[in-house]
Amino acid sequence: MSVNWALPFEEKLIPPGYEGKVVPPSVYQAVHKVLTDNYKEYWESVAKELEWFKPWEKVLDDSRPPFYKWFVGGELNLSYLAVDRHAKSWRKNKAAIIWEGEPIEDGKPKEVRVLTYGDLYREVNRVAYMMRHVLGLKKGDTIAIYMPMVPELPIVMLAAARLGVIFTVIFSGFSAQALADRINDSKAKVLFTADGSWRRGKVVPLKEIADKALESTPSVQKVVVLRRIGNNVNMVSGRDYYFDELLKDVPQNVYVEPERVKSEDPLFILYTSGTTGKPKGIVHDTGGYATILHATMKYVFDVRDTDVYWCTADIGWITGHSYIVFGPLLEGVTEVMYEGAMDYPEPDRWAAIAERYGVTILYTSPTAIRMFMRYGESWVTKHNLRSVRIMHSVGEPINPEAFRWFLKVVNPNAVFGSTWWMTETGGIMISHAPGFLLVPMKPGTNGPPMPGVDADVLNDQGNPVKDRERGYLVIRKPWPGMPLTIWGDDERYVKTYWSKFQGVFYPGDFAVKDEDGYFWILGRADEVIKVAGHRLGTYELESALIQHKAVAEAAVVGIPDPVKGEVPVAMVVLKQGYHPSEELKRELNSWVREQVGPIASFADIKFVTKLPKTRSGKIMRRVIKAVLTNAPLGDLTTLEDETSVEEIKRAYEELRKEIS
Ligand code: WTA
Repeated sequence: MSVNWALPFEEKLIPPGYEGKVVPPSVYQAVHKVLTDNYKEYWESVAKELEWFKPWEKVLDDSRPPFYKWFVGGELNLSYLAVDRHAKSWRKNKAAIIWEGEPIEDGKPKEVRVLTYGDLYREVNRVAYMMRHVLGLKKGDTIAIYMPMVPELPIVMLAAARLGVIFTVIFSGFSAQALADRINDSKAKVLFTADGSWRRGKVVPLKEIADKALESTPSVQKVVVLRRIGNNVNMVSGRDYYFDELLKDVPQNVYVEPERVKSEDPLFILYTSGTTGKPKGIVHDTGGYATILHATMKYVFDVRDTDVYWCTADIGWITGHSYIVFGPLLEGVTEVMYEGAMDYPEPDRWAAIAERYGVTILYTSPTAIRMFMRYGESWVTKHNLRSVRIMHSVGEPINPEAFRWFLKVVNPNAVFGSTWWMTETGGIMISHAPGFLLVPMKPGTNGPPMPGVDADVLNDQGNPVKDRERGYLVIRKPWPGMPLTIWGDDERYVKTYWSKFQGVFYPGDFAVKDEDGYFWILGRADEVIKVAGHRLGTYELESALIQHKAVAEAAVVGIPDPVKGEVPVAMVVLKQGYHPSEELKRELNSWVREQVGPIASFADIKFVTKLPKTRSGKIMRRVIKAVLTNAPLGDLTTLEDETSVEEIKRAYEELRKEIS
C-alpha cells in the first residue's frame, strides 16, 4: 500500500460559485440509495438516452453470475453513436478532435489537425471500408493496434467498432515481447501500427519493435503501417501495407453501414496486470460499456456543447479508451488530443495547450500533477487557465498536498475530484459528480459512489468495516460496463474478481469510507504496482528478470516515490558464477526494459543471497517492502500462509542485515 499521508476527513471545500448548488452528503446518500436500490431501473433510464437500433428485452440477465449480461436483446453500434449521430446533426461541422503533434517549430506546435464530426464520419467510413473489402475483416474477428497518439488511432478503433471487429490496443510504450504476448493471446488477424512515434523529440521505432514481435505471432496475416514519421521501415511484401496506400482507392464519401451489434457482443479486449500470471485480457461488451460512459460523461464531467475537454491519458490504457475515444465522442464533445510528453520541450507544454484551446474540462493524473508541482508554479501561472471549470485526476491516489496545489494554480473556482475506477469497471465508479449532485470536495478523497454503484469496504471476514477503518473495496451489484470475462479464461475471471468475497466484485484495492459516505482508495491490496499510474504486475517484471542468464531468482516490489507514486525495486539472487556489479545492474535494467517496455524501469536492483519465503515457497513481499522502506513489519496477525510470525521476523532481520 502506497498511501501514508493523513486523510483530511473533515476538510470540506465548496468551489466559489457552487454555494447554492452543492448538496450535503446526507442528501446525496439518500438519492444514491434510492437509485442504487433500484439499480436496474436506474441504468435502464440511462441506457434509454442512447440511440439503439433495437431495444432490449431484458435489462439484466443475471441467470449465470458472475457472467452478467446487460440490455439483452438490444442492438446498437458505438461507431454510429459516436460519429454518425453527430455527423447527421448540427454538430457535423463542430470540432470533434483538436489534435496537436509533439514537435515544436519556432516556438509553435508544428502540426495541429482539427477533425470535425463530419471529417471523423468520412474517415471512419473509409477505414471501415478498407478493413472489410481490402483486409477481409468481419464481425467477430480480432485485430491488434499498436499506434501512436494520432487521430488515426481513434479512427481505427471506431472503424473496427463499426464492423463489430474486436480490437485490442497495445500501449505504444510496450516492448516487442509484450506486444507479441497480447497478439498471440487475442489471436489478432491484422496489426495496425506506424513507422514510428514522437516521444520527447525522439523517434520510437514502432514498426521495428512490431517486426520483432511479428516473428512469433502466427495469427497475424496483414500489417497496416501508418506513416507518422516518414522514415524508412522494413516492409514485408505480401504482409505489410501502408495505411495511405490501402486507402488510396477508397472513395471519399463511401458509406459502410454500421453492424447491428448485440449489446453483449465484445467491443474490445484490453490487457492489464494482475497479481499473478500473465496479463489478463479484459473483455468489454458494447451496450453496458456505452451506458456507463454516457452516465459518467454527463455526471462526472458535466459536458456541454460549449466545452473543450481534454483527457491527458494515452489511448493505450483504459482511461484513453473510455475518456478520449468513446466517452467524449458519444457525447459530441470537442476534445483536445495531444501526441507527446506533457513537459516537452518545456515544463509548461501542457499548460500552453490548455490555454491555447481554452480547455474547460481537464482529466489528468496525480503523477503528472506532482511532476508539475516539482517544476514550480510559475510554469503554470504564466498561462491563463481560468477557463478550466472541472478537473479530475485518475489512476492512483492523489495526495492532499498535490490536490490543493493544483486547484490553486489552475483555477481555485473549479470543481476538482479524483475518480476511482479500473480497466475492469469500464467507466468511473466513485467520484464527485458536478453534473448530478455535487457534494463538498475533500483533498485526496474519491468522493461518493456514482448512482447505481453499490460500493462497500469489507474486512478479511467479509463484514463491513466501521467508518474510517481500512478494508477491501468491493462492488456489490452488477453494473453496466463490467467485464464480460477474461479473454479465453472464464475460470480465471471468477477466481480473480468474484471469489475473495462470495458474490461481490473484488477490485483488489484497500479503502476507507468516512461518515459522509466518501471513499478514500488507498492503493492496491495485491502485488500490482502503479508506476506513474501505469499498472504493472510484479509477475511481469520478475519473469523478465529470471529470463536473464545471470538470474536465479527475483522478487519485485513497489516502493513509494514522491512523483510517480510508486516505483519498482528488484531483489535478485544470482546464479553460480555471476557476481554483483553496477554493470550487471545496468544490464538487468535494460534487459527488463527490452522485455516489458520503457515503463518498466527499476529504481534500484539489490543483489541478495536468498529471498525471504514462506514455508510453501511464496515470496514474502511484505518483508521485502518493509526492509526497503525502512518500515516496521506492521500487523502480522492476518497471515495468508502458515508461516509463523517468528519466521517472518527472522526473515526480516536477515534481509535487513544483508541489505545494509
Ligand atoms: C488505482 C485506471 C486511487 C486503483 C483507470 C485501481 C486509483 C487501479 C484511482 C486501476 C483513484 C485508479 N484513486 N486509486 N482516483 N484511479 N486507481 O486498470 O488501485 O490502470 O485498482 O485503471 O488504479 O488501474 P487501471
